[in-house]
Amino acid sequence: MSLAERPVTAPDPRYIAAMGGAEWSDRLRGRFLAFEGPDGSGKSTQIARLQAWAQERGLPLTLVREPGGTAVGERIRQILLDPIHGEMTVRCEMLLYMASRSQLVEERVKPALAQGSCVISDRFVGSTLAYQGAAGGMSEAEIRAVAQVAIGGRWPDLTVLFDVDTDTAMQRLSPLLDRMEGKGAAFHRRVREGYLEQARRDPRGHLVIDASRSPDEVTTQLMQGLQAWATA
Ligand code: TMP
Repeated sequence: MSLAERPVTAPDPRYIAAMGGAEWSDRLRGRFLAFEGPDGSGKSTQIARLQAWAQERGLPLTLVREPGGTAVGERIRQILLDPIHGEMTVRCEMLLYMASRSQLVEERVKPALAQGSCVISDRFVGSTLAYQGAAGGMSEAEIRAVAQVAIGGRWPDLTVLFDVDTDTAMQRLSPLLDRMEGKGAAFHRRVREGYLEQARRDPRGHLVIDASRSPDEVTTQLMQGLQAWATA
């Protein structure tokens, strides 16, 4: 089995050592990172590797996921992703994602940052801008206004965007699609474009990774990018 094929829950210790970072990992303490990307971008694999790396380096790391991450948020997640709710309007969808996020920021993100932990959120406002905004048709101004209320100004210090073309991403998905994954290729192309547009408008706040490459190559890009950002 190659290193890339190992289960994400048990990364090879040699692999983690090769990720480096002994000199700069401490600079991620107290920083808030959002990991974003289309469905099928492979970000969960990378998050699992980063978690093992942080543990090895003694970096306190708090991982949260959206929608969900709290008891309240997980209930909201069930409503959002259940294919039975086909009639849900995009406004309702946007507000539910924001409600889950609001609880997450107060209950988990802010306390962890205050304790000096690095916080990684698997999706954040960038997802709403891409899915409900660029793909779903809601205006960016409306989404940002609600986000400001929901997160109380706690925007991420850096957004890592795992960019992948829609064909590659869709091939990676399990055939059992949830309500969002099942929205079709045209919708997911707009999601990708929405993400890239966010990165174009705010290049300093984004680290864009070519996530069409192999998992190992993506990890290399991620670690180099994080190091450059953390030591700048
Ligand atoms: P996940 O599969 O990464 O857990 O994400 C759940 C789905 O919800 C995914 O298809 C992206 C979508 N989503 C939105 O449409 N808007 C949002 O604000 C968030 C956080 C996720």
